[in-house]
Amino acid sequence: QHKVIFDTDPGVDDAMALLFLDQHPDIDLVGITSVFGNASIDTTTRNALFLKQLWAIDAPVARGAGRAVHPDRVEGPPPTFVHGDNGLGNVAGVPDSVDIAPDPRPAAQFIIDLVRANPGEISIVAVGRMTNLALALALAPDIVGLVKQVVIMGGAFDVPGNLSPAAEANIIGDPEAADSVMTADWKVVAIGLDVTHKTVMTRAEMAEVARIGGPKAQFLSDVSQFYIDFYQHIIADGMFVHDSCAAVYVVAPELFTLRRGAIRVSCEGIAVGQTIQKPDGMFFPPGPWDGMPSQSVCVEIDAPAVMSLIKKTL
Ligand code: BDR
Ligand code: CA
Repeated sequence: QHKVIFDTDPGVDDAMALLFLDQHPDIDLVGITSVFGNASIDTTTRNALFLKQLWAIDAPVARGAGRAVHPDRVEGPPPTFVHGDNGLGNVAGVPDSVDIAPDPRPAAQFIIDLVRANPGEISIVAVGRMTNLALALALAPDIVGLVKQVVIMGGAFDVPGNLSPAAEANIIGDPEAADSVMTADWKVVAIGLDVTHKTVMTRAEMAEVARIGGPKAQFLSDVSQFYIDFYQHIIADGMFVHDSCAAVYVVAPELFTLRRGAIRVSCEGIAVGQTIQKPDGMFFPPGPWDGMPSQSVCVEIDAPAVMSLIKKTL
């Protein structure tokens, strides 16, 4: 079994990835950490706790960062038009507060403790802002040698972004954090819009998943309707499953084609939040990639196989 910490901002596609991680027999979900992004940190933490309770997920939830690491970054209003005011597609039945408590530790400390207790074993699946990971790295640089891999949903490498022509949401939401995660000397696999825009769950497929999957899948389907409505302007009656791609990678890496090279994140100017990879073996004059570890960017995906694994697991 693969031990996984899920760092997330639920979030509709986050909820799908959470259910996938909990349901997949080869995954041992050892912790869930919340981060701001699709909604405020209060809301994403409440949602993580609520889904843990509703879906009877064993893993503890630790509350994470509520703002970007750099003091000058001011977060705009959350994208309620994508994930709803409650972060779960405005579905009814989400309580204002949940009567189970989060782990007492902040997410960064929780990550450090779990990683140190399981050296070489933990995959961190990070599908929100990279803030908790950056804080953990700053507090405990030794974890780079102890984490098995960091699988990220984030970035737009050879394609336009979704919050600007240059930037994808999880990266532009905390560019300094993303840059420190990408340039740390641990194994990063970045799965960005280059491939997640190829993974679509249609409304009809979601209805089928709900019909066969029982109450858990039914709730996920209810949550997803608002998100599918939002995506009507880009795709016909379906949703990108972004975050689930990072979860799938842990159990089925053979479905992803990777390109190696150092990754940097632009932290200022019109391209703020842009993810840039210098492919290994390409020559350039000295630049900000020099001396940075080679990481993996996903450039191709077997989308039909990924979607069928997601549907089967849900
Ligand atoms: C990413 O941003 C969020 O809206 C989604 O949950 C996903 O993690 C896609 O850009
Ligand atoms: Ca997310």
